[in-house]
Amino acid sequence: MSQLLRSHNVESLGGTMKPLILPKSLEFGSATAATQIEGGDTHSNWYYWSLAGKIANNESSIVAADHYNRYEEDIRLMEEMNHEIYRMSIEWSRIEPEEGVWSEEGITHYQKEIKDLLKANIKPLVTLHHFSHPQWFEERGQWTNSKAVYYFNRFAEKVIDSIGHDVNEYCTINEPNVFVNDTYMDGKYPPGHKDDIKSYFKASKNLILAHLKTYKMIHEKRQGMGYSDTMVGMALHIAHFEVNGKNPLTKLSKHMMDYSFHQLYLNGMVEGHLTFPIGSGFPEGKGVFCDFIGVNYYSRHLIHSSLNPAMLFGEVKVEEGLAEDKVNDLGWELYPEGLYKVIKKTYDQYKLPIYITENGIPDEADSKRAKFIYDHMVEIKNLIEDGVDLRRYYHWSLLDNLEWNDGYGPRFGLIEVNYETQERRIRESGHFYGQLCMNKEISQKMIDQYL
Ligand code: FCB
Repeated sequence: MSQLLRSHNVESLGGTMKPLILPKSLEFGSATAATQIEGGDTHSNWYYWSLAGKIANNESSIVAADHYNRYEEDIRLMEEMNHEIYRMSIEWSRIEPEEGVWSEEGITHYQKEIKDLLKANIKPLVTLHHFSHPQWFEERGQWTNSKAVYYFNRFAEKVIDSIGHDVNEYCTINEPNVFVNDTYMDGKYPPGHKDDIKSYFKASKNLILAHLKTYKMIHEKRQGMGYSDTMVGMALHIAHFEVNGKNPLTKLSKHMMDYSFHQLYLNGMVEGHLTFPIGSGFPEGKGVFCDFIGVNYYSRHLIHSSLNPAMLFGEVKVEEGLAEDKVNDLGWELYPEGLYKVIKKTYDQYKLPIYITENGIPDEADSKRAKFIYDHMVEIKNLIEDGVDLRRYYHWSLLDNLEWNDGYGPRFGLIEVNYETQERRIRESGHFYGQLCMNKEISQKMIDQYL
């Protein structure tokens, strides 16, 4: 790595910031998820989770950023920020509020939103499961139910029947690794189980199987509609893990964590290979089950030694004593070099197109976001120069939104939302990003003005 860095753009590593030119073919936009921005959905499990008082400060998904009613305005703002692409999710509970009951209202809504995006020349990438689902599915044990794959695939078929002519790009499942961890180990997401390893692995397996089936189904259906440009992938949260100290056990623990948090899902969702401890063999045959790999990257995690076997004898921590400008509002370390490391490793392994499906920063004061984007662009340029087929950058997020159990406190938006009035205002960093989207470069003028 050190050798690589010498020949690389190292502006982010303490030097002065230099202008940066990125390839025109790299496409830029932002990402959101339905539950986090839409509001008004009384059939989702997150609405029930809100009612149970499980979101910080007793906040509720029922409010959010009212995007369901304001999507036209939000698309105008995307246009103002020169977006070419937009990652959104379709809320299962709006399409199938009761088991087997399809909502025409929900379907028509998303059809309209997608048409509006296309009219604005913004290509949608549609996520089918982004942490939330209908309450009826929740009550049946959600992803641990033996019919979970069937239920999900049936919903996904309905979506493709409804928007398949307009949308060619899909992300089946968002961050299965974070989802099962926060749902079955940390108890932060409904149904809030703690250290429930059995459910953790059962759900992991079903999420992988759902991806495989849905991958095939989307290709088959769109082929039947006469299209050959279908792109289906998933979005995996890939963190950069690093060992703290010299304890050999910690090294082992890092390997185990890397395996169970990352590789297990790559084996399953990319190669169709179920591996220990969730199974074995190739349930849908051998093949490649991703047309792109979506990488959600935020931070570095240091693994410290621990005596807790449930945590694979490792404890994940943020480096101690970091300067204020090295952490975001949630205390996560800002570590742009990690983006290079995780993507290079993943690309070398699979040689599949990479989409950065999420990357962003909670920064209420908006004092770090533009620099954060600049630093990550340096790494993106390095990756492309090193031959990585990196095609997309979706900034998380378009708007301030509900940060799941952390509520509305963290401000991830390029656009600030006033939740009292639902007024939107593009942040300074949003204007900076808008210029980057338009010109595919960070000029000296932008550096002088924003950084
Ligand atoms: C990711 C989630 C996304 C958002 C960001 C901050 O893990 O996919 O919905 O909450 O973190």
